[in-house]
Amino acid sequence: MFDGGRAGSQRRSGQEKDISCPIHLVSSRLLAKRGGDHRGPYDSHEGFQQLQTAIQKWEDSHQAHPHGRLFYLALPPSVYPEVCKGLHDNCPAAPGAEGGFTRLVVEKPFGFDLDSSEVLAGKLGALYPEEQLYRIDHYLGKEMMQNMLTLRFANTFFSPCWNNTCVANVQISFKEPFGTEGRGGYFDQFGIIRDVIQNHLMQVMALVAMEKPVSLSADDIRDEKVKLLRCVHPVSASEAVLGQYTASGDQPGYLDDPTVPTGSRTPTFAATVLHIQNDRWAGVPFVLKAGKALNERKAEIRLQFKPPGVALHAQKADELRNELVVRLQPDEAIYMKVVVKKPGLQMDTVISELDLSYKQRYSDTYIPEAYERLILDAVHGDQQHFVRRDELRAAWAVFTPLLHAIDSGAISPLPYPAGSRGPGPADELIAKAGFVKNAAYSWKAG
Ligand code: BG6
Repeated sequence: MFDGGRAGSQRRSGQEKDISCPIHLVSSRLLAKRGGDHRGPYDSHEGFQQLQTAIQKWEDSHQAHPHGRLFYLALPPSVYPEVCKGLHDNCPAAPGAEGGFTRLVVEKPFGFDLDSSEVLAGKLGALYPEEQLYRIDHYLGKEMMQNMLTLRFANTFFSPCWNNTCVANVQISFKEPFGTEGRGGYFDQFGIIRDVIQNHLMQVMALVAMEKPVSLSADDIRDEKVKLLRCVHPVSASEAVLGQYTASGDQPGYLDDPTVPTGSRTPTFAATVLHIQNDRWAGVPFVLKAGKALNERKAEIRLQFKPPGVALHAQKADELRNELVVRLQPDEAIYMKVVVKKPGLQMDTVISELDLSYKQRYSDTYIPEAYERLILDAVHGDQQHFVRRDELRAAWAVFTPLLHAIDSGAISPLPYPAGSRGPGPADELIAKAGFVKNAAYSWKAG
C-alpha cells in the first residue's frame, strides 16, 4: 500500500512532489494484520528495487500464503505512470506462485477531462492489463449502491414502473455540511463536478438507470453501465447551475480557506440536468446535484413518479406524487412516499410512507465501510465494483464540454451562504426539470 495518504495526496497541490512515502506491507489474508512499513522514494529504480527486496523478504517469511501483491496507490495521479512503471519493471510477483497475482488499486481523479483521462489510461494500460487495474470509486462500496441491482431486479413490482411511463424525474443528490477545510489546494484544481459528480454520482446514475445485466459477473454489469452512460447527452451549460459558498455566521467562505487561490472561481456546488437517450428514459430528466458547505449531510436517490391521470380527491393530483427514495447516507433507508386516506372520520388524503430504515430493521447487522468492502474485493479479484476504462471514458464525455466552459470562465459560480441549500437558481432549474416539491411532507429518519 503506497500511502502518500489519500488525504496527503489531496493536501498537496500536485505541483510539489513528495517522493518519499511509507509503504505498508499488509497481509492479504487478514487485512488488519500488518507486516511492517517500508519507506522509500518512488522516483527511482533503487526505490522500487528496495521495495521488491522488502516484499520478497516478507513473502519468504510467510511461506504458507500464496503471494498476491496488491498495490494501493494513494498518490497524486500525476505520478501514477511513473510509479506504475517502477512497480512494473522492478516488483513483479514471483512467477508461477499458486494463487499469486499483482493488482493495482488506483484512486480518482483519473484525469482532468476526456483527453487527459485517456492519456493516463493509455499509460497505465500499456503496463498493466485491465484485469489488474482496480479504479476505485468508493460510492460503489456503499451498502445501498451494492443493493441497487437486487432492489431493482429481484422485486417484480418495480419492473413495470421503472421507466418513463411512470417516472417523471430522478434526483441524485450529495450534500455535505462542511467546506474544504484546508483541502482547498486539492479541491480547487478540480471543483465539485470532477470531485463528486462525474464519478460518484454518475456511477449511482448508471446503476439506477442501466438495463438488467446478463449475469452478476463484473463485465456483464459493466457492459450495461457503459451502454447506459453512452446514451447520456453531454450536459449543456443552460442546464447547469454552479455555486461557490461564502462566509455565513461562524462558517468561513470558500475563498477564506488559506489553501484556496485568491479569487478562485471553482464551483463548490453544481446542479446539472442529464438526459438519457434510450427507450426506457427518454423524457425523464436526471438531476445530479452536489455541494459542499450546505445545510445538511445527505446522499440520496429520489425517483419522483407521475401523478395519476385523473384526481379522485380534492387535493391537486400534482401534489400527491409517489416518490421512491433510497438514502445512501446518513442512516441507510429505502422509503416510498404513498398517498393514504387521512386516518379518522374525514375522507381527505395525506402523504405517508412505507419505510425500511436499516438502523431499525437491521439493528444487529454490521454494515462495512465502503473502502473495507472494496479493498477486500480487490484482494479477492472481484472487479464488479470497480470502474472499467470505457465507463470512465463515457462519464468524462458527458461532462467534458461543460467543464471546459467552466475552465474558460464562460460560466461562473453563484455565491451561496455556507449552511444554506445552495444557490436559489438551482431549485428553479430542478423545478424546470419537472420536480414538484411537496412542502407539507418531510420524512423523519426512523
Ligand atoms: C470524495 C471527495 O471522493 O468523497 C470528497 O473527494 C467528498 O470531497 C467525499 O467529501 C464524500 O464521501 P462520503 O463517503 O463522505 O460521502
